[in-house]
Amino acid sequence: MEFRTIIEPFRIKSIESVKFTNLEDREAALVAAAYNVFRLRADDVLIDLLTDSGTGAMSAAQWGALIQADESYAGSRSFYRFEAAVRDLTGFEYIIPTHQGRAAERILFHTVLQAGQIVPNNNHFDTTRANIEFEHAEAVDLVIAEGRVPALVHPFKGNVDLAALERLLQERGDRVPLVMVTVTNNSGGGQPVSLENLRGVRALCDAYRKPLFLDACRFAENAYFIKRREPGYQDRTPKAIAQEMFALADGCTMSAKKDGLANIGGFLAMNDATWAEQSRNLLILTEGFPTYGGLAGYDLEAIARGLEEVVDESYLRYRIRSIEYLGEKLSGAGVPIIQPPGGHAIYIDARALLPHIPPLQYPGIALVNALYVEAGIRGVEIGTVMFGLHPDGSETPAAMDLVRLAVPRRVYTQSHIDYVAEAVIGVAAMRDRLRGYRIVSPPKVLRHFTAEFAPVEDGVGA
Ligand code: F0G
Repeated sequence: MEFRTIIEPFRIKSIESVKFTNLEDREAALVAAAYNVFRLRADDVLIDLLTDSGTGAMSAAQWGALIQADESYAGSRSFYRFEAAVRDLTGFEYIIPTHQGRAAERILFHTVLQAGQIVPNNNHFDTTRANIEFEHAEAVDLVIAEGRVPALVHPFKGNVDLAALERLLQERGDRVPLVMVTVTNNSGGGQPVSLENLRGVRALCDAYRKPLFLDACRFAENAYFIKRREPGYQDRTPKAIAQEMFALADGCTMSAKKDGLANIGGFLAMNDATWAEQSRNLLILTEGFPTYGGLAGYDLEAIARGLEEVVDESYLRYRIRSIEYLGEKLSGAGVPIIQPPGGHAIYIDARALLPHIPPLQYPGIALVNALYVEAGIRGVEIGTVMFGLHPDGSETPAAMDLVRLAVPRRVYTQSHIDYVAEAVIGVAAMRDRLRGYRIVSPPKVLRHFTAEFAPVEDGVGA
């Protein structure tokens, strides 16, 4: 028999109860949180789609490995296991553990960047951009034009615009110490990058003698999209495809909180001995000795196994399908989303859904808050609150007002996803009743985390 139903490729050995609340409870919780879901207690959330980072479920094999870990300060057995797993996958020579992805970014950029330099990428994630700007350098986004059009379907919307990259390297190449590509492209909707495009970036890097680094947080999801969508890769394993991706690069930064299937951790890996030595010196200063880099031995064990489990094809089939399934239900009901669905999240186009709420009254916040109040679901605004405030204090609408529903790995079942679809479709049906918000306490930086809001008119986001 050929089965059409794709099931969760695991059974559940240990469960965590979720708390059911009623509408009044949630209204009160949201008021207490000053209408900012970052300020909620997680216990008051039924289905938490705030992020896919560090929120995944570990396997029995990972939990088992924890107790076998070696907590030696230097030269721990767990480090060598971790190093072997990362090297097997990436092929990189120097492997430097860090406490999470942004630590790898900080160490890399502090090591290689000088003020006034430029780092191109398809789209920089916000911590990547922030770490580049912290070195007084410039982060340039060069995703293909199709990657900027939410409703447009394209198999590899995360691809780099090669002509634009070549122009940059021609005109200002002397200021570019390295080129980055983010797989999958989180800021652009969790969209994949093709191997053909990566080879194109590699060719330009060779021509202009620049190292290429991957932001590899979601490398396995990217590899599975290549298997599904790129001609010639249908019969390759996700692991072989991932190895081919890494073989095109000179190094990577990684948050093991995503495709490492771990709750914490990351690494910086590269082939350049000089940069590696400088990075390790910085690592010792702020993270720890090079064989633990701010992690416990048991974290290194969890990551080593996570990196093996994440390339399992039945896992990736279920993973990508469950996001696609949610996307199909929402777009089938007329909810505007970034098409096609990404690898780790659905991005709802809140500006298109709520045209009566002007961008400076934050349609994304209106939708996030209504989803919480109506259904106990927590998503995140990726729009004007996150990107609209400028260093000079002025505010303009962001390019898009999106709401991201990021799905933690191996945590929720299909009925959870069905519930999420029902809730979003229900909230979309009451869109006319949703109202905008204003910020009553404006933090100066990263205001989306802590800002306090008030509804523009009476009512709890509805
Ligand atoms: N790069 C990308 C593409 C990311 O998505 C993230 C984190 C990082 C780097 C930084 O890694 O959190 O381990 O320091 N993204 C999370 C998210 C926070 O919700 O998308 P980190």
